[in-house]
Amino acid sequence: MANQGATRPSGPNAGNKICQFKLVLLGESAVGKSSLVLRFVKGQFHEFQEGTVGVKFEIWDTAGQERYHSLAPMYYRGAQAAIVVYDITNEESFARAKNWVKELQRQASPNIVIALAGNKADLANKRAVDFQEAQAYADDNSLLFMETSAKTSMNVNEIFMAIAKKLPKNEPQNAGANSARGRGVDLTEPTQPPKSQCCSN
Ligand code: GTP
Ligand code: MG
Repeated sequence: MANQGATRPSGPNAGNKICQFKLVLLGESAVGKSSLVLRFVKGQFHEFQEGTVGVKFEIWDTAGQERYHSLAPMYYRGAQAAIVVYDITNEESFARAKNWVKELQRQASPNIVIALAGNKADLANKRAVDFQEAQAYADDNSLLFMETSAKTSMNVNEIFMAIAKKLPKNEPQNAGANSARGRGVDLTEPTQPPKSQCCSN
């Protein structure tokens, strides 16, 4: 779990409302989930300002190997957002992504914002999943959709930003993120104690 975008009182968001959201990454092994997280975390742009509301993500990266599948509900429980990742050069990973979407639709929070990421877009010469087909599938299922590349950074900040825009900013809906703390893999220690509520000043 990487606690994203710790804010300093003197930072750009001083005095503004900050909402914290739990975001989980799902997808077949080797599609690039950890690489996307690393790219995003290493990028400078951790906190999104939309009007006067800042968004902070608590990111839960999961293991894609099938033998860990039964652990997944622990990660997506209480998540307000999910990025389901496939590899555009691997058709099987797209089928797997669709199964993750189905599982989230059935078992995750009803209002979860789901984004579909067709990663490794830099390998377009080895493409096995058609852009239009993925876009149509995403439209049918009301998912955000982008092709991304953790290698070149293409659409990495953009997909997190699009999710941030879609998340509700006014209810104290973040109990899940905080109550889940301590049960996952910590990629980094949070630099600030968790807020007890979503939106605080
Ligand atoms: P699991 O943790 O096993 O579920 O895999 P993962 O989804 O976290 O994949 P990971 O980020 O470990 O990436 C797997 C391999 O794909 C690594 O060799 C990465 O360097 C490579 N990779 C990840 N993203 C990209 C990308 O956008 N483009 C290219 N060309 N390679 C990528
Ligand atoms: Mg990984």
